[in-house]
Amino acid sequence: MVVDDEILNRKLIEAMLKPQGYEVTTAVDGEDCLVRVEEVMPDLILMDIMMPNLNGFEVVTRLKTNEKLALIPIVMVTALQDVGDRVKALEVGADDFLTKPVDRMELRARVRSLLKVKAYNDHMVNYRQELETEVAKQTLVIAEAHAKLRDASLETIFRLARAAEYKDEDTGNHIISMSRISAYLAERLGLNSVVVERILYASPMHDIGKIGIPDRILTKNGPLNDEEWAIMRMHTIFGGQILEGSDIGFLRLGEVIALTHHEKWDGSGYPRGLVGAKIPMAGRIVAVADVFDALMSKRPYKPPLTMEQTVDIIRAGRGTHFDPEVVDIFMASLAEVNKFWQTAQAEQHPVLEKSSHNLDAIHAI
Ligand SMILES: [Fe+2]
Repeated sequence: MVVDDEILNRKLIEAMLKPQGYEVTTAVDGEDCLVRVEEVMPDLILMDIMMPNLNGFEVVTRLKTNEKLALIPIVMVTALQDVGDRVKALEVGADDFLTKPVDRMELRARVRSLLKVKAYNDHMVNYRQELETEVAKQTLVIAEAHAKLRDASLETIFRLARAAEYKDEDTGNHIISMSRISAYLAERLGLNSVVVERILYASPMHDIGKIGIPDRILTKNGPLNDEEWAIMRMHTIFGGQILEGSDIGFLRLGEVIALTHHEKWDGSGYPRGLVGAKIPMAGRIVAVADVFDALMSKRPYKPPLTMEQTVDIIRAGRGTHFDPEVVDIFMASLAEVNKFWQTAQAEQHPVLEKSSHNLDAIHAI
């Protein structure tokens, strides 16, 4: 873009450059240049200094302070020999000078070299944009891979938990329902969202230690004797051992839940007889959700209890079996709890072959 208020000067420069194959556009003064430069986006500006209204310095100042235009090289073309003007031109950001009358060879040489610089700058800008696009693309790929991996590990946990309950549960719905209820109660108790999510994923593993209980006890058709009960209670310890030593947050919490979901508020629970707040909160929450789910479920040896009967039993356990605070939140959440329960029942999960018997309701209570 040739910016000059003298038509003859514009024509002269145009005539020198056009035969070289350059596309030349002109602006009749500084204001015209500022108006048109953004639509033309020239690769180089040849700027006269002495112009009416805005002089060359003022125009260059504006161009160089505009982020979009600052990389366009500017050659100041002037009749002035004054060193002061050259210094000023440099200060406002001009890239080079030409003296009038313009020498054709010199003009072409300057134009050629500055266009090279411009081409290099354009390349770098494009390269950076391409890199940014590529990084954004790869970030998305990584995020998707991460989500898939997370889904895969969660599904594995659910299936592992089902494997542990395979012999003594009707369906996989128990772990779905009780984990959602546990997470909901945790949220209403004010636990932070990270812990709530961990409870959702960790609680299905609460009975994973049943895998270590002999079938003759796990599926016994009738009440357990003292010795059998002692072994049955070991499922908490086994679960803790299966899950211990992990660096993964929800597996660590799974260990805690496996170990403490049969502890009771009054200290009469197992395996350690912890009392009150000594029982980790996650264990206290899962205790309520586990019992609720067990009582509501149909078992070979018992019909499902009604919501009312189940709620009565949990209320009766407030402060003895259960943490009073968790029971209060549970009572305040009956509509939601019932919804979680109904939804989980309606979901289609692979039906697990049920065995002849289980002691789920008994041992949960
Ligand atoms: Fe259990």
